[in-house]
Amino acid sequence: MPAQQIRLDINLAVTTNPEVKHLMHTSRLDDYQKMISDYHLEIEKEKKERKIRFQELPYQDTSKLKALKKEVEGKFDTLVVLGIGGSALGNIALASALLHSYQQISNKKGLRLFVTDNVDPDWFTDLFDVIDLDKTLFNVISKSGGTAETMSQFLYVWEMLVGKYGDKAKDHMIATTDEKSGYLLDIANELGLRKFVVPEGVGGRFSVLSDVGLLSSILIGIDIDELLAGAAAMEKRCQSDELMKNPAYMNALLHYLYDTQMGKVISVMMPYSSTLKYLADWYAQLWGESLGKRYNLKGQEVFVGQTPVKAVGPTDQHSQVQLYCEGPNDKVFTLVEVEKNHKDISFSNPFKGNAGTDYLDKRSMNELIRAELHGTSIALADFERPVVKVIFPEVNAFTVGQFIMLYELQTAMAGKLYQINPYDQPGVEAGKKATFALMGRPGFEDEKKRIETSYSFDYRFIL
Ligand code: PA5
Repeated sequence: MPAQQIRLDINLAVTTNPEVKHLMHTSRLDDYQKMISDYHLEIEKEKKERKIRFQELPYQDTSKLKALKKEVEGKFDTLVVLGIGGSALGNIALASALLHSYQQISNKKGLRLFVTDNVDPDWFTDLFDVIDLDKTLFNVISKSGGTAETMSQFLYVWEMLVGKYGDKAKDHMIATTDEKSGYLLDIANELGLRKFVVPEGVGGRFSVLSDVGLLSSILIGIDIDELLAGAAAMEKRCQSDELMKNPAYMNALLHYLYDTQMGKVISVMMPYSSTLKYLADWYAQLWGESLGKRYNLKGQEVFVGQTPVKAVGPTDQHSQVQLYCEGPNDKVFTLVEVEKNHKDISFSNPFKGNAGTDYLDKRSMNELIRAELHGTSIALADFERPVVKVIFPEVNAFTVGQFIMLYELQTAMAGKLYQINPYDQPGVEAGKKATFALMGRPGFEDEKKRIETSYSFDYRFIL
């Protein structure tokens, strides 16, 4: 096994002991091999017909991004991404995993990155106290080009830029959006903004390896070639239809069966790493938004999907693990381990004879955090709670690229198992539509009427 390969350890998620009630028997997995092989063929067909294109991203041409990096070097010290959901979470996850933990204060590798994925006016406007507009480049990202949060932020920033720089405002703004259509594309064309693309056939939450995540990555100093090489390595590794050779399919099947047959309706992802905690945020969107669906492919009402929950180890051992061990047995756990940290520290103990510190003498922080991960996995296993481990030999662009592709492929297979469309998001669209109606956007008058007649707010029930 190559040294830099991330690994999926399912030892604590399956059992060969028929007495164990809450863990999946290994033979049950074998029963699904044929189904997995059939779905694999369907996925391959969709890939060939280019209906689904996130798997192509590791092999893309990145020369335009590299040219941009050269061009902006020395001109800016900060990049601000205006975006939300799939247009934001991947950017945050990559920066957090691969840069200095306090990169927003000082980033020696490139620009500092801020991602403003909310329209809380206090939080949003505070940003302008810590950036120097002269040295800030903005990237407004929206695949649809019509998302209220993103477009409202864009309006505010654009006005500020025009007020300060006039005709030169566009030197501070990039637009990343659909190639062919959309309101943002129209504006970008009208203003002559520099454009990057959310590719056709790649949905928001599958777009981190497109310009959506790569533009910020390259400008803040992440090695995008390594990131894509990691994703390519995982894409190739997952071309087998054999469950025991394909970690994406195995993990999809495990989660699907635990959810639908064993009542584990919650999927907890718990990296034992503060820098990887935003990968769990990214995962939560991917898993939740892709699989949480009302209708199946036949149009029948099914209301499926496992609820993703994010936690961080060991921090949440002191918050959630009591519930995880002894509360309802309705969860499957993914503990993410980092075998080797970039910077490790060890402790020396001047308080000899003190049992509270003696065992820490000459031990390292990496040893401690990994012991805590293994300790939690054993505590969970003792209570018959299934635990999958995802093991990073170390955290770098190559391993993070693998992780991203692993979970995207897993989600594609999970969509097949649930027999739903993992690439749409009608629930999200419904919320967007209601917001437009409430904001009085023309074209949404019927929706406004519907809301007003369906929900009469009774002041007696406001306490
Ligand atoms: O995954 C998705 O499609 C969504 O989460 C979108 O990324 C999110 O709603 C933002 O949409 P847009 O990029 O169109 O502004």
